[in-house]
Amino acid sequence: MRNPKKVAFLGLGRMGLPMAANIAGAGFPVVVYNPTRGTAEDFAAATEGVTVAGSPREAAVGADIVVTMLADEPALRAVYEGPQGLLAGWSPDKVALDMGTTGPAGTAWLAQAVRVVGGTAVDSPVSGSVKAAETAGLTLMVGGPADVVEELRPLLRSMSATIYHLGDSGAGAVMKLAVNNVIYALGQAVSESLVLAERSGIDRAEAYEVFCNSAIAAPMVKYRRDNYASPDTSITQFALTLAAKDLRLITALADEVGAPMPQAAVNLDTAVRAIDQGLGDRDMAAVAVYLRDRTPPQAFS
Ligand SMILES: NC(=O)c1ccc[n+]([C@@H]2O[C@H](COP(=O)([O-])OP(=O)(O)OC[C@H]3O[C@@H](n4cnc5c(N)ncnc54)[C@H](OP(=O)(O)O)[C@@H]3O)[C@@H](O)[C@H]2O)c1
Repeated sequence: MRNPKKVAFLGLGRMGLPMAANIAGAGFPVVVYNPTRGTAEDFAAATEGVTVAGSPREAAVGADIVVTMLADEPALRAVYEGPQGLLAGWSPDKVALDMGTTGPAGTAWLAQAVRVVGGTAVDSPVSGSVKAAETAGLTLMVGGPADVVEELRPLLRSMSATIYHLGDSGAGAVMKLAVNNVIYALGQAVSESLVLAERSGIDRAEAYEVFCNSAIAAPMVKYRRDNYASPDTSITQFALTLAAKDLRLITALADEVGAPMPQAAVNLDTAVRAIDQGLGDRDMAAVAVYLRDRTPPQAFS
């Protein structure tokens, strides 16, 4: 059965592609836009109910809900602003549903920009990586007016297993940073401990097997096994550059609200150093690669 709400979906990256597929699979008519147009064309050719827009403006015209799943705030602004941007194709009563990890400032910018042209913004960043996106198993952290969030529920359900409506606009963006701070702390600790075990003579794969069956076996530790155990051949699930982006958002929010987060600062510093060594496009697990290549006492130089 077709769903009456028309959806524009912008950002067909690692996460956006399977999320858009699940929306289309739930019966929503979907128009997609992606800067690399070939990705959008291949997706539309392979997926029933999906068409391609030539610009964000064209995607917005006729859509009831505009979903964005983009890298960061500059990418969000790039698709909303300008003569070919979403705002140029806006009409009152559309809902802007941002699902990327854009951060509280970008989320506030979007809410204001959309309010001016007569719409409502809802932030719904996601927890879970590519596999959870493919299986509609994401956890959503939602901020926005309750009535609009209720209207969005069938769409949100098509991508997720768990939905938390945490408050007004911006609440989802903040909660996502709180969750991801733990992800990066865990990632840093797993990286350090893996190198510790290896340098002490334990086989890497065996050490990781123990991690996966010990008290630290969080979902992230399990679904990142290949990235840590076989870093040179595994597929990137989440780029280290995006992890550094998140850590900057986390430390900025900590400064703003006065939350002491010394660990986040170390994790950001390590991510930046690893990116400087050319590991930015690798999975966030490449922190272990970076640490493995360091020799104390120059570990942090
Ligand atoms: N991967 C994960 O495990 C994961 C999990 C939870 C949340 N997230 C968050 O979800 C968002 C998307 O992540 P992802 O892993 O799917 O990223 P990704 O694979 O790098 O995809 C990024 C998307 O943003 C577009 N984009 C990049 N720069 C742009 C710009 N300046 N203007 C317009 N569009 C631009 C890309 O277009 P092109 O295809 O043309 O490059 C692509 O569609 C990020 O905010 C990330 O932090 C990711």
